[in-house]
Amino acid sequence: MSSPSPEHVIESQRQDWNRVAGGWEKWDRFFDEQMACLNHRLIADARLRRGLHVLDLGSGTGYPALLAAQTVSSSGRVIGIDLAEQMLDAARRKAAALTLSNITFRTGDVTALPFEAASFDAVTTRFCLMFLPEIPKAVAEIARVLKPNTWVAAAVWSAPDRNPYLKIPMDVIKQFIDLPAPDPTAPGIFRLAKPGDLAHMLQQAAFVNISDEEFLGDVRFQAADEYFSSLMDIAAPIQNLWGKLNSTQQTEAKQRIIHAAGQYGNGSDIALPIAVRMVAARKPR
Ligand SMILES: C[S@@+](CC[C@H](N)C(=O)[O-])C[C@H]1O[C@@H](n2cnc3c(N)ncnc32)[C@H](O)[C@@H]1O
Repeated sequence: MSSPSPEHVIESQRQDWNRVAGGWEKWDRFFDEQMACLNHRLIADARLRRGLHVLDLGSGTGYPALLAAQTVSSSGRVIGIDLAEQMLDAARRKAAALTLSNITFRTGDVTALPFEAASFDAVTTRFCLMFLPEIPKAVAEIARVLKPNTWVAAAVWSAPDRNPYLKIPMDVIKQFIDLPAPDPTAPGIFRLAKPGDLAHMLQQAAFVNISDEEFLGDVRFQAADEYFSSLMDIAAPIQNLWGKLNSTQQTEAKQRIIHAAGQYGNGSDIALPIAVRMVAARKPR
């Protein structure tokens, strides 16, 4: 079977993330607290400070763009770009609630950035690049829009075995239906999980001082069904797989997911491990 065209992937992404925008807003506070460390790491890796002009790619509901805007303060500026207008609407509401006036969000595709060459002092991006049909094209765009001697910092999911948080439902769904073995080059959650993969693409685009590190953490839930509901509300790719089960299968699969998550009890919490590749690089002088 031929792989879908880049245009088709991009349109599917737009629809998928618009569909779950309400879920992201519903669970915003929870995930904001749970994943704040990733945003702080990206801000550090991108060397953000007061006054810089920052581009955040695939901002969704505003991560890490909102923290970037607080970091660069009123003398700096942040632009967040994303395909999904409804995700960005949520980001705009949050920026307004935080009274941030130095941040704007606009729709667009990361592989065709609507900006002039050398117009940004830093690029950040969290959990977006692996969903692109043409990642090297996006990396070339990042290189184009960055000024010389500035940094890009990216977070992408590491391997499934290192991410029970994401792997549990996938394993359970596979117990009910045959899923084709994932094409390692197809866009998806784990497309950039391999150590060195994104780093290599950055090197090909002439970036230097490249770092690629696996960052370990966990997401903590009060109960396993909180885990189930939140993940199903926000994880568009997992929702797509879930939709392939009939309602009887969904009832059984939910029990199995909740049971599997329960194995990660940690005192009064359930702590589901996550592993994220933090990749950063500098555009040469
Ligand atoms: C998992 S969400 C991450 C959102 C946010 N950065 C975060 O970490 O919370 C992935 C986001 O990437 C966006 N996205 C996917 N492909 C894109 C593309 N080609 N151009 C711009 N945004 C894209 C989606 O619309 C979605 O909002």
